[in-house]
Amino acid sequence: MIILGIETSCDETAAAIVQNKSERFEILSSVVSSQVDIHAKTGGIVPEVAAREHIKNILPIIDQALKKASMDYHKIDAIAVTAGPGLITSLLVGAETAKVLSYTWNKPLTAINHLAAHIYANFISASWRTKIQFPLLALVVSGGHTELVLMKKHLDYQVIGQTRDDAAGEAFDKVAKLLNLGYPGGPIISKLAKDGDRKAVDLPRPMIKENNFDFSFAGLKTAALYKIQSGKYNLKDKKTIADFCASFEQAAIDVLVEKTIKAAKKYNVKSVLLSGGVAANELLRESLKTKIKKELPFSHLSLPTPKLCTDNATMIAAIGYYYAVKKGFTPWQKIEVDPIWQLG
Ligand code: KG4
Ligand code: ZN
Repeated sequence: MIILGIETSCDETAAAIVQNKSERFEILSSVVSSQVDIHAKTGGIVPEVAAREHIKNILPIIDQALKKASMDYHKIDAIAVTAGPGLITSLLVGAETAKVLSYTWNKPLTAINHLAAHIYANFISASWRTKIQFPLLALVVSGGHTELVLMKKHLDYQVIGQTRDDAAGEAFDKVAKLLNLGYPGGPIISKLAKDGDRKAVDLPRPMIKENNFDFSFAGLKTAALYKIQSGKYNLKDKKTIADFCASFEQAAIDVLVEKTIKAAKKYNVKSVLLSGGVAANELLRESLKTKIKKELPFSHLSLPTPKLCTDNATMIAAIGYYYAVKKGFTPWQKIEVDPIWQLG
């Protein structure tokens, strides 16, 4: 089965063509057009600007994906498109385009949950079959979401914990803004953190000891704000900035790792999957690797390549395959976007 995936939920216009042969995925093409430079000027995403960019880019991006895969649309068996959660004006561009293509090309269509697709980025790597087993626990950490999801089988999601306020990625972005470092904050903070002292700034680990699997990142962000406002830190000094970034990164990652390990133990999972933009974070990847090896030696940790962690359409096409074979398609007339579509 050859699937065209389309993704426009936030600020990346993406299209990919993925082939599934005997449960293995081959990425025939993957094109991502990022709007980061545009949104960097405003220090964050302006939804209308994002939607206008998607409108400009969507058809050329799909065209590029077909050309890179050296095929025309006749070879496509199905189309998968993100229908939520996300910015409604951004989602509409991808979904309406997919509906028009489904109608004019006469191809079946499936609507995809963006968070579920992040989880399924883990199933793209060739050797997954030997490693990823159910029940599994997925930590989904992106710019808009932080969730721990238990899956007992394919396409079956139980959210066992989530953030009560800001998402982890959002906290990285906001703290980077407070430090005048630019947008998006995650990659910048983690790069600067490499030269910093992770204990230099005393920051809280909200909810780390609470007996649940929820998170709170607004408190950490506010604690960082108060430290900055205290005037104690010279933000023009490179070393001070590096120390601040390292301390913030450590605090955020400590909470994510602790809660993930606790949940993996409680539900006795066979696999732990990392996903979403923050999953590209090296400290998170390394810390989880070390902890799982030590505390859950019989569980397998799956880490998609950083490119598959941030928004892309390969993951949309991949999960589209599972929907196609396990749940069937939805007539294009019935596809609607849902900006707050929740997993489970
Ligand atoms: O999944 P994603 O690409 O888009 C959403 O669905 O939100 O995630 C974007 C988020 C941003 O908040 C960005 O700062 C964060 O992922 N991010 C990182 C890193 N790379 C991206 N956060 C921490 N460390 C990174 N290396
Ligand atoms: Zn995402």
